[in-house]
Amino acid sequence: MSSHDNAPRDGFGSKFGALAAAAGSAIGLGNIWKFPYIVGQNGGAALVFVFLIFIVCIGVPVMLAEFLIGRRTQRTAVTAFKTLKPKSPWFLTGLLGVLTAFLILSFYSVVAGWTLHYTYFSLTQNLVGNTPELINQKFGAFVSNPWQPVFWEVVFSMLTAGIVWGGVQNGIEKYSKILMPLLFVILLMLVIRSVTLPGASKGIEFFLKPDFSKLTKEGVLIALGHAFFSLSLGMGTMIAYGSYIRKDQSLLSMTLQVSLADTAVAILAGLAIFPAVFAFGLSPSEGVGLVFKVLPNVFNQMPGGTFFSVAFFMLLAVAALTSTISVLEVIVMYMVEELNFSRRAAVLLGFLSTTLLGALCSLSMSPDSVVSTWTFPILKSASEGFSQVPLFDFFEWWASNVFLPLGGLLIAFFVGWRMLKSDIVDELSSNGQHTLPWYHVFIFALRVLAPIAIVVIFMSQLGVFK
Ligand code: PFF
Repeated sequence: MSSHDNAPRDGFGSKFGALAAAAGSAIGLGNIWKFPYIVGQNGGAALVFVFLIFIVCIGVPVMLAEFLIGRRTQRTAVTAFKTLKPKSPWFLTGLLGVLTAFLILSFYSVVAGWTLHYTYFSLTQNLVGNTPELINQKFGAFVSNPWQPVFWEVVFSMLTAGIVWGGVQNGIEKYSKILMPLLFVILLMLVIRSVTLPGASKGIEFFLKPDFSKLTKEGVLIALGHAFFSLSLGMGTMIAYGSYIRKDQSLLSMTLQVSLADTAVAILAGLAIFPAVFAFGLSPSEGVGLVFKVLPNVFNQMPGGTFFSVAFFMLLAVAALTSTISVLEVIVMYMVEELNFSRRAAVLLGFLSTTLLGALCSLSMSPDSVVSTWTFPILKSASEGFSQVPLFDFFEWWASNVFLPLGGLLIAFFVGWRMLKSDIVDELSSNGQHTLPWYHVFIFALRVLAPIAIVVIFMSQLGVFK
């Protein structure tokens, strides 16, 4: 059965609305915070190269598949799978997405809180004229302080929940249409300043000239996970947003625009950060603090640095907000559609639980807190077995590198092998065009390419291949 004849939900009014929402979800801390730090830790350009291949061969088809499911069913993930395949276990794919949303929202809000703190740092000119060492130390002191980061994490979570509570996501998307291009412009200016610093060329080389001997199996898994994370795929976010796309809009062109914009921001972020890393004698493998340790130095070398620094961190917080809204929405819609919660009760419960988990993630980085002594397992490499890490890394690692790719695998498999061809073609040819020359490429990617690639990468991480 297909419920696509149901009354349409109050989707976004304009074509640009759904696009801005999907791009807002995709573009966020993943591009500017996470991408540079994983590239820095995993061998540089080689990881960038593998990441780009995953975006094109797996990310693009899976995003199209998610939009397709969402618009077809006019529902969010769990209910969508139940609608398309009643009385089958496929709805578990949606449930996995809800679990992943809890994990992501928890650690993501911590880093989003850091951007608020850095906005405040910039406003009070706290980092102006500091040496790179001092900027480094101040980041360390901030993150290891037990209460400050928790305070900002709670503030940020309240912003996310407040917007979803008031149902004003549409309003935010409207602002973000103006704000995100501004972020793009500041990023461009940072790139220009960064690549013209003395000693920048080493950084450009690190980011753009692949040395495949530096790529590890874990690096490949991380690149795969990040392709999903960055495009907001594998947990039903784009299924939910797909249900808002008007019938006369082309899903393919939406997919291409969102993926292109998202990738462009990631590449710009890398070009802003790595030249500066080398110019200031910092290490590319700083980890989660990379962006916060590097960019203040670049602002210090720019005319009007304080102004740009305030604007940058504020806009980054907005970019993070348009992403967290979409994650909270996955949790809320599940509770509303499946558990019969009122929308407000669902927002409140989602907010309270993720804020609490987020506070624990934040405390897990503070040596002064007992939470930092709790450790949890991740499988960094098959030969070394499980390593024990703090809660923040535990959530990040499992959500990004296992649950999102697994969710993506199931979604690809579902649309590739289980959905009716007539349903697929009907959704894809929304602009009245009935021959789809790329249909077979799309189906091949979903049926064969994506599932095999993901399974092989999982197996290699488990040490199946020597
Ligand atoms: N794509 C977002 C980013 O790159 O910051 C993060 C994200 C949002 C991941 C929504 C997953 C998701 F469902």
